[in-house]
Amino acid sequence: MNTTSNIEKHQLQQIIEDLHKRYESNHDGDVAAYIPELLKADPAHFGVALVTNKGQIFETGNTNQEFSIQSISKPLTFGLALEIYGQDKVSKYVGIEPSGDAFNSIMLDDNTNRPFNPMVNAGAITVTAMLYEHYGSEAFDIMLNHFGNAAGRELKFDEEVYKSESKTGHRNRAIAHLLLNFGMVHENIEPALDLYFKQCAILVNTRDLAMMAATIANVGENPVTSKEVFGMNSVRNIMSIMFTCGMYDFSGEWAYKVGVPAKSGVSGGLMAIVNRQMGIATYSPRLDKRGNSIRGINACIELSNELGLHAFDYLNNGSSFLNIIIKK
Ligand code: DON
Repeated sequence: MNTTSNIEKHQLQQIIEDLHKRYESNHDGDVAAYIPELLKADPAHFGVALVTNKGQIFETGNTNQEFSIQSISKPLTFGLALEIYGQDKVSKYVGIEPSGDAFNSIMLDDNTNRPFNPMVNAGAITVTAMLYEHYGSEAFDIMLNHFGNAAGRELKFDEEVYKSESKTGHRNRAIAHLLLNFGMVHENIEPALDLYFKQCAILVNTRDLAMMAATIANVGENPVTSKEVFGMNSVRNIMSIMFTCGMYDFSGEWAYKVGVPAKSGVSGGLMAIVNRQMGIATYSPRLDKRGNSIRGINACIELSNELGLHAFDYLNNGSSFLNIIIKK
């Protein structure tokens, strides 16, 4: 869908096109190599998309290019677990504290033996094991359908990425066995891991991520299809955990500089949420050492400054900028 057919370009369209131009010449960082199949990504690809909570879509660059969702699946599976089990039950097995460590760190909270939060691999694997426990062999189809409802279209997964990650996922297996040792996951750890590898291989494009982010921003309702995807309380919990833990050991700096909930993935996607206003997504596979997209981070810092999106911006545009900026 193209909402920019007016003769005069919409201000938001102009802003993202300018951003895209500024950062496409940035060639810093490398494509993730630890999952061999991810190395096939074209490092030149760069897409930026915004979806407002009124369903307006603005996009520029390679926004149709599909890539595996990777860790951006984590807030969505966390949301699904909250819907099924409720916060109290989920909290028995996964914490809500930033770890300050790498996403794949083999570490649990010393005091509780729980993973620190659902955004690091240990927490995400625990959440996925809970989904497997509840849904059994139907879990993947239910998950795919749920992600599709958030994106507003039917999604598929990349068989090759799934196989590649399953073949090389020894670190995640080690994490799963540590979790099993402390009783944080059930005995069916192999099928739960298999589900986690498949969840990471779900294919999305930049527009899908922006729509998913807009669905969360719009209190859980997809702004285009009007489908209710997450309940109100889950949305609050999803955004809180993304705000404090979504960018791993860069989460503090991200909160300081961008000031909105976000989640990154090693394939180069990034989604950010402006509560009650819009979803933002970028795709660029060149990553920094922490596994976050370099162009994505730069573009979001600039977008946040330009539009005053930071939750604590003195203009407080983050809670009302659509009324200020979007006049068309
Ligand atoms: O568990 C893994 O290693 C990946 N499938 C997901 C990691 C990921 O995307 C981390 N994000 N930056």
